[in-house]
Amino acid sequence: MVEIRDELGRSFKTLRISLLNTCNLACVYCSCGNEDSKQNHILAKDKSLTATELLALVKQLHERLNLTTVRFTGGEPLLYKNLAELVEGVHDLGINDLKLTTNALLLERLSPLLKAAGLKSINISLDAIDPLIFFQMSRRHDLTRTLKGIDAALQQGIEVKINSVIMKGLNDNQIIPLLNFAFERGLTIRFLEIMSMGHLYENSDEHFFSQEDILQLISKHHTFVPLLRTSSSTANYWQTTDGNRFGIVANESQPFCSDCNRLRLDTFGNIYGCLSSNHPVPIKEVLNPIELEGKIKEALAQKQALKFTGSTLSMLHIGG
Ligand code: GTP
Ligand code: 5AD
Repeated sequence: MVEIRDELGRSFKTLRISLLNTCNLACVYCSCGNEDSKQNHILAKDKSLTATELLALVKQLHERLNLTTVRFTGGEPLLYKNLAELVEGVHDLGINDLKLTTNALLLERLSPLLKAAGLKSINISLDAIDPLIFFQMSRRHDLTRTLKGIDAALQQGIEVKINSVIMKGLNDNQIIPLLNFAFERGLTIRFLEIMSMGHLYENSDEHFFSQEDILQLISKHHTFVPLLRTSSSTANYWQTTDGNRFGIVANESQPFCSDCNRLRLDTFGNIYGCLSSNHPVPIKEVLNPIELEGKIKEALAQKQALKFTGSTLSMLHIGG
C-alpha cells in the first residue's frame, strides 16, 4: 500500500490519543481554574468513547498507516476508566511502542496494571520540586503523590522521563533542583518552553523562558555537549560530562514541524494533524478505507510548514 505523505514527505507514524479533556490538576498554563470540576469530569466521561470503540478506530488507522507508536495523553489519561484494557488492546494490534503522558497522581496504583498491559514508557509532568512552587504551578498540594507515582513506575521497570514546563518568574528557579532530582535517579528530564495555547494564546511572552536561557543557567552548574537529534523528536538533548542526559522542547526557539509524524485522535472520535488545529476531522462514522484515506489526508493538510502558530485550545482539550 502506498504511504500517505504530504509535500514535505511527512507521514503519520505516531498516534497520540487524548482520552479525556479533564484533569485532576489545574496547572496555570493549561487551565483557567474550573476545568477540573467534578461536573465537567462526569460530562466528559459520558461523552467519551469506550475502550472498545476507540480500539476499533485505532485498528482502522493502523491498517492504513502502519503506526509504530501510540501515546496515551489527555487531559489526564489516568482518569480514563479502562486505560489498561485499552493499552492491552492496542498492544494486541501489534503496536509495541506504547507510551503515556501523565501527571502521575494515580500512578502508584495503576503502574503494575499498565506494565502488565504492555506500556513501555511514561513522560511525567513535574514543574517544581519545592512544595509551595508545585502548588503555585498546579494549584494542588499533590507533590508527594506525584513523587510516589514516579517511584512506582520506576519500580515496575517502565522508562520514565520528566517534563517540566518553565515559566519565567514562576518556576525558573526550579530548573537546577529539578535537574538534580532527575540526575540522582538516573532519569532524563526535558524542560518545555511555554507554548501560546488556551488562555495564554498570544499572551505567553511575559513568562517565556527560552532554550538559550535554560542552557545558560545549566552551564553554570554542568558541562555538557549536544546529542544528535533523532528524526521527528520534539526535544533537543544534551549529555553532561557525568553522563546525565537532559532535553529541551523548544517549540518557539527551534521549531520541529518539518519532520512531524504525529496524528492526534480525541476521545470523541476526531483526528487532528496538528497541535494547533482547531478543526476536528470526524472518523467515528467512516464507512470504508477510501473514506478513511480522505479523512487522513484532510488531517495531514493541517500540518504547519515551519512552526507552531499557537492555538486558542489548551492542551487539556486537544491533548498534550
Ligand atoms: P517522546 O519524545 O517520545 O518522549 O514524546 P513527546 O515529547 O512527543 O511527548 P510529550 O507528551 O511528553 O510531549 C512533550 C511536549 O512536546 C509537549 O508538551 C509539547 O510541548 C510538545 N509536543 C508534543 N506534540 C507536539 C506537536 O505535535 N507539535 C508541537 N509543536 N509540539 C508538540
Ligand atoms: N506550554 C508548554 N507545555 C504545556 N503543557 C501543557 N500546556 C502547555 C503549554 N501551554 C505540557 C504539560 C505536559 C505536556 C504534554 O505538555 O505539562 O507535560
